[in-house]
Formats: sequence, structure tokens, C-alpha cells
Amino acid sequence: MAQSSTMIGGDGIYSYKKNSTLQRDGFEAAKKVINEAISKNLDIEKVLSEGSTTFAIADLGCSVGPNTFLAMQTIIETLLQLQQHHHSHLEFLVFFNDQTSNDFNTLFASLPQPRSYFAAAVPGSFYGRLFPSSSVHVAFSSSSLHWLSRVPPALQLRDSPAWNPGRIHYTGASDAVAKAYADQFEEDMEVFLKARGEEIVGGGMVIIIMPGVPDGLLTHDVGIAITFLGCILMDMVKEGVLKQDKVDTLNIPHVYPSMKQMRRAVEKNGCFEIVEMEIRNARSNLDAPIDIESAVMHLRALAEASVANHLGSHELVEELFNRALHRKALFSQMLYSAGIQIGSQLFAILKRK
Ligand SMILES: C[S@@+](CC[C@H](N)C(=O)[O-])C[C@H]1O[C@@H](n2cnc3c(N)ncnc32)[C@H](O)[C@@H]1O
Repeated sequence: MAQSSTMIGGDGIYSYKKNSTLQRDGFEAAKKVINEAISKNLDIEKVLSEGSTTFAIADLGCSVGPNTFLAMQTIIETLLQLQQHHHSHLEFLVFFNDQTSNDFNTLFASLPQPRSYFAAAVPGSFYGRLFPSSSVHVAFSSSSLHWLSRVPPALQLRDSPAWNPGRIHYTGASDAVAKAYADQFEEDMEVFLKARGEEIVGGGMVIIIMPGVPDGLLTHDVGIAITFLGCILMDMVKEGVLKQDKVDTLNIPHVYPSMKQMRRAVEKNGCFEIVEMEIRNARSNLDAPIDIESAVMHLRALAEASVANHLGSHELVEELFNRALHRKALFSQMLYSAGIQIGSQLFAILKRK
């Protein structure tokens, strides 16, 4: 069974490979700043150990492509420009990391040819050590760090104030539910940053792009999309297709942090200097209407494994997403009435002290 956070593999119509343009837009929106931040802040001479010409880049939560290839190529092109001032010729080694149930076969079968780097898979959770000490020069993670390591435990106890009946996320839920999610994010970031602090060489960088919200706001459009899915599940309960308990016990482990939350985590860890941190908008054209059908397909590509694991029935999953496609008007209404900036993302560049 796939881990809950794993995207749909292969290259079928519902695959992540075919339904990840929104995540690509997120990277495209941040490309220029990444280029500038690396150029300004990375000293190749300093980060490479003496005599070494191997530059190691890790993509944490790479999924199946093609976005990861675009990101790695962009970072390498920036480094190649920087290399002009360096005496030796760099060789690049890219570590593609994701959960063990990620479709690494599809990823490696579609590696660009020719390419300017060596490639290796590093399976396992980024909430823990993945690499030897001081062995990675740049770690990158896009649209992945909002996946928590687990559903916050308080949500699984019926007598807890964070019990979340009839909902599958913290968007629109009680303060106790939101706090349980925020606490889990804090705990996870502590583990993430501790591991990266050990793995990244002095002067090396961590680049993070993830769905995020302006300080003081809880809701994000991905959260609205998940809440929409919760509404469809509740329709299925009302029609007797699904047991209420199945909804009450399902909670999608996503958090969209504010800069305040992220800054607190980085400062608590203490290994990294914040070179850049901001909330940006990932949409290239803010006035363009949202393509709701495509948004539902994206939602399916990212949430199907979580829901399928929980419902345990392929037919129910099919029914859920078919219903979602028929309720596009509800999704659109929920998105536009939420009063949020659609497409907001947290962007952070950290430098290892
Ligand atoms: C929405 S995809 C993003 C993929 C790619 N970075 C992009 O921008 O298109 C999120 C990926 O994060 C991975 N992921 C989630 N939690 C993870 C963890 N703890 N360790 C490693 N990968 C994780 C998922 O398996 C999934 O492939």
C-alpha cells in the first residue's frame, strides 16, 4: 500500500506527472529569486572540501517529475554561471529523495537525456537523516514540506478537544484542531532542520517552497480544496454510501505555515541563517480564472493515496472524485468566498552557519 503522502505514479490521466502544473508554477514564480540568492550567497570555493569537484544537490520530496528535473536543471545552470570564477570543473550529483512508495521507476525512466548531472535515488522520509554528515551542498524542497510526518495524535482520540468529526482538515475547524496541526508542524520542522543541519556543509543552502499563508491567516486554497473533498465525503455519508466514522477519523496531514511559524522553527534550530523568507504568489496571472476541473485533477493526484488508504475501497475513491468533478460549482464558490489570496506560497532560503 502506498504511503499516504505519495502522489499517483505512472503517466496515466490521473498521474502526478500529468497533473502537477500548479506545483510547476510555484517553482517558476520563485526561479529568479533562487538564482539571485544562490549567486549572492553561495561561495563554491568555501563549500567544497579541498580537492573535491563533486557538488551534491538533494531534491527532498521530488515525486515522479517532471517538475524536479526543471528545478534541478535551473539550480545547476545557476551554479555553472558561478563556476566561471572557480578554478576547477564541477561535477554535479543529484539525489532524488522521496518516500519509499514513490514511483521511482517512472522518475528514472524519464530522466532528461542528455543531462549535466549524475543521478541517484535516496528513498525515505525527510523527517530524519537521509545523507552522511556534511555531504550535501544544496538541499531543495518544493511543494512537499506541508506534508506532516503523521496525523497529529490528538485528532485520533474521540474524547480529545481536537477530535474533528465531519471534517478532514483544520481549515474551518476548531482552534484545538488547528493547534494540534500547528504543534505537529513545529515538531516535524525540528526533526527536519536537525537532520539538514547535520547533512548540509557549512555555507551550503536549503531552499524551501511550500504552500504558506500570510501571518494571522489560517486558510489556504489547498486547504479549501481538501475541505471541499470533506464536503463531498459528507454528502456520501448523508446518502448512506459511506459511514460517518470514515469521515470523522480521516484527517489529511497538511499544514500551510506562516512566516512566523517557519522563522520560529529556524531560529529554534539555530544551525541556519535566514537569507530570504517571504510569502509570494505562485500564479503567473492573478486575474486569470481558476480552471476548476484541472484543480480537481491536481487534488486527486495528490490526495488519492491518503483517501484510498483510509476508505480501503477503489470504488468509493472513484465515486468521490467523480462526484467532485460534478460539484465544480461548489468548489469554485468555496474558493472565491474564502477571501484568501489564491496561490500563496512560503519561500525560504537558509544558509548553513
Ligand atoms: C506535491 S509533491 C511535490 C513534488 C515535486 N517536488 C514538485 O514540485 O512537483 C509532494 C511530494 O512530497 C513527498 N513527501 C511527502 N512527505 C515526505 C517525506 N516525509 N519524505 C519524503 N518525501 C515526502 C510526497 O511523497 C510527494 O511525492
